Amino acid sequence: MRLQHIIESQQFSVPNLMELFARTRTMEKVVQRGGTRDYEDKVMATLFYRPSTRTRFSFESAMYRLGGKVLSTESAKAFSSAVEGEQLEDTIRIIATYCDVIVLRHNEEGGAKRAAAVSPVPIINAGDGAGGQHPTQALLDLYTIYDECKALDGLSVALIGALDTGRTARSLAYLLSKFDRVKLYFLAPPEMQIKPDIVEHLRERNVWHHLASNPEEILPHVDVVYQTRIDRERLQQKDVKPTQYNIDAKMLETMKSDAIILHPLPRSVEIDPAVDRDPRAAYFRQARNGLFVRMALLTMLFDTE
Ligand code: CP
Repeated sequence: MRLQHIIESQQFSVPNLMELFARTRTMEKVVQRGGTRDYEDKVMATLFYRPSTRTRFSFESAMYRLGGKVLSTESAKAFSSAVEGEQLEDTIRIIATYCDVIVLRHNEEGGAKRAAAVSPVPIINAGDGAGGQHPTQALLDLYTIYDECKALDGLSVALIGALDTGRTARSLAYLLSKFDRVKLYFLAPPEMQIKPDIVEHLRERNVWHHLASNPEEILPHVDVVYQTRIDRERLQQKDVKPTQYNIDAKMLETMKSDAIILHPLPRSVEIDPAVDRDPRAAYFRQARNGLFVRMALLTMLFDTE
């Protein structure tokens, strides 16, 4: 399969995902061998209007390990002509003449779609706005679930946090909806619940889902706990207890012995560092998988057949 742009999770079919995962396994071996020079003629630009540690560094590492080169700005809002009022579309038209792929994190929802509309080279959405999507994060999340649980069909998954603005949870929900007999629990304070567009999508596909606000009732029954941040200021305003959604040693005791805990990171207080020692804590392995999945995605964009 040849990808044109990577904008949202909905664009991936199950066969696409299986091809991606097969390539990801190959990339793990490529990294073990010290990388490849196969893509030495390729240049990738990373254009980030919002801060990032994992997404930007893993994409840049991925390109270097494929033999390619990287153009990067630390903060496009401060160190690009955005300062002079240049529109995103013009910036993309220019940068596209210098590279073969652009990885874009934009501060506005829909930024990646706007970029793709004018770009002659592939655009990869590295997160757009609050409440948009972050498809490459969801792809590495799904790969981690596949790798750790050895299955995707029939899994029960709890997504926790500020789900209305959580672009990684939104993208992952779209991906999980493609698999058979999946059960999705959305755990959030009522005012931060998953938005109607996702619920509508799940209804249309007959995907089992349940919106809840009490983690203690749900976590003992799931195979995957996908924890994300909750905006504490919003919680304080709404008079909701933030610690109710944290994962700590006590919560861990109630979970299945073979469940896994994921988090797109960065974390704040929502996972106690004591949990890191438990083998079910898979979030650092998940972040590592970001390198392999992003290498695989770049090869799928570059390979012509
Ligand atoms: N998970 C994620 O997108 O992390 P960064 O913000 O560090 O890229």
